[in-house]
Amino acid sequence: EQTATGIAHSKLILIGEHAVVHGQPAIAIPFPLVGVESTIEEIKGPIMFDSTFYQGPMNSAPITLEGIINSIEATIEHLQLPKNNLLIRVTSSIPPGKGLGSSASVAIAVIRSLFAYANVSYTEEELLHFANIAETFAHGQPSGIDTLTITSESPVWFEKDQSIQYIKPGSDFHFIVADSGRIGDTRSAVESVAHLLRKAPEKIQRKINRIGDLTHHAKHALEKAGKNFLGQILNEAQKELEALGVSDAGLNKLIDLAREEGALGAKLTGGGNGGCIIALAENEVHSRQLAEKLKKFGAHAVWPFVLRKQN
Ligand code: MEV
Repeated sequence: EQTATGIAHSKLILIGEHAVVHGQPAIAIPFPLVGVESTIEEIKGPIMFDSTFYQGPMNSAPITLEGIINSIEATIEHLQLPKNNLLIRVTSSIPPGKGLGSSASVAIAVIRSLFAYANVSYTEEELLHFANIAETFAHGQPSGIDTLTITSESPVWFEKDQSIQYIKPGSDFHFIVADSGRIGDTRSAVESVAHLLRKAPEKIQRKINRIGDLTHHAKHALEKAGKNFLGQILNEAQKELEALGVSDAGLNKLIDLAREEGALGAKLTGGGNGGCIIALAENEVHSRQLAEKLKKFGAHAVWPFVLRKQN
């Protein structure tokens, strides 16, 4: 009996979310503290799912899984695997709907496991192609940044339709990711920004461009200027995201608290309107203190996380 496994880590958007959908750059970081494992086993009968979000035959899965099912079907077709006799077991430690790229990580882990099962090697382009099928359902108009970051080991500088660049941090950065507890819906957040852009094109375009400028500054901060400058940039980006209507009371509360407790900067991360914040601490000790405070005052989960200097 044959089995095969595929894994994927998650991702954080440091800066540029939403603006990236409209052609501006964004910076995203692989986030290895949570991830997905997918295992394929041979069984008898129709294709079955076994996961925390659904157990049962793939063809009666809820509509929320439509994206991943489309990815799976396209991959199976490409690999010329049988359209039955497979059990797809998915275990994820990524909270869904929290801006950490859960949908893209699930897609990538499952696609990797299907290729492994078929014993076929794949290119990065193929992997992204099949994963982006799922993302189109999950996000409506995805920029592709989630899938790219999830297949990367380094921070990425991403612009739509351009080749990816990798960023090498010039020093260590101590971040804290904190979950506001509310589930966000990236698709509707992306749609609401598009709606604002149609209603007030000049005003909203200015905010989108400003986020783009801030993203350029953030790259400079990561590579050279350092944490204090990066903190200020993150705070500025949060102002623009609030103006775009994608922050909410729960996120704002955690962001304010992080700043009161000495964070150098804090903003939402990912789609927003629920989900997580990212805050920048002074150092490792401060990062641990900040994580404790955020946990004590309402964060559902906290992950202190170091982005290491790269030579
Ligand atoms: C989601 O992680 C980032 C967004 O910019 C959507 C996207 O780029 O597809 C909100």
